[in-house]
Amino acid sequence: MGIPVILDCDPGIDDAFSLAMAVASDDLDVLGVTTTYGNVGLELTTTNALRVLDWLGSDIPVYKGIDQALLGKVVDAAAVHGATGLEAPEIGPPTTTPQAEDAISFLIRTLRESEDKITLVASGPLTNLAMMLRLAPDVAAKIERIVFMGGSTDYGNDSPAAEFNMMCDPYSAQIVLDADVPKTMFGLNLTHQVLVTPQRKQAMHDLGNDTGRVFADMCGFFEKIYHSLGFEGPALHDPCTVAWVLQPELFETRSMRVDVETNTGLSFGRTVHDIWNIAGKDRHTDVALKADAGGFFDLMNGLLGRLR
Ligand code: RIB
Ligand code: CA
Repeated sequence: MGIPVILDCDPGIDDAFSLAMAVASDDLDVLGVTTTYGNVGLELTTTNALRVLDWLGSDIPVYKGIDQALLGKVVDAAAVHGATGLEAPEIGPPTTTPQAEDAISFLIRTLRESEDKITLVASGPLTNLAMMLRLAPDVAAKIERIVFMGGSTDYGNDSPAAEFNMMCDPYSAQIVLDADVPKTMFGLNLTHQVLVTPQRKQAMHDLGNDTGRVFADMCGFFEKIYHSLGFEGPALHDPCTVAWVLQPELFETRSMRVDVETNTGLSFGRTVHDIWNIAGKDRHTDVALKADAGGFFDLMNGLLGRLR
């Protein structure tokens, strides 16, 4: 049996890569996918999760989560991911529907029932996980680790200071960061090291299967905004989380205290990293600082190449 995981996501182009890698891997036992608002609204992120899984022929169940942050206005990243959140014409409409059980109930029930601890892989705003921890604090003891994409040790992408997933719901992010659960954080400082350069995009095409071609073309959709910012290609933020679960040696991490700025103002939503442990608080988060980008793309292409 593989590593038991639950993916909490807001598909989203890069979330779709996480889903595909998880479907392809024999080393993961994906117990379910929970969806959150984020890149686009909850209805669309849920539809997109179903579209990707159906297109890949996967029967991993999908559970709808929460449709907005605990506080604050609803934002999205449609400008980056497109109005549907997944501009991939070949990946048609879903052929299945989400489970009747909501995501929070599924997370709590599954964690309580599981004999083994479960790894939660989060690649969107952390509202679902925060609500789970508030409703059922006991489940923290059943979580192996929360591996999440969010924050940054340097600059933001939704504001000069804040990364999108954290900015969507800083209060939920702080609830998760405060949880007595091992965490591994993939911020923009790391994910901007794994860019889909033209060579890497061609390597996906060269896989010679539908998945390589369609996922390479997906990158084509959001490379424009990255080129406009001076990047050589789009960053594959979310699949860094799945890659770490499968091959942690691809990344260098350092344990430190991480908090989120929840006071409104210039730095609202920014993750604050106590790399020198100046505040003397618990170093409860392993922050990814360096990626073996070549190794990451080798892993990813090896998995995508196994699909349709
Ligand atoms: O800031 C990048 C993150 O926000 C990624 O997870 C992307 O999918 C969006 O959710
Ligand atoms: Ca995401």
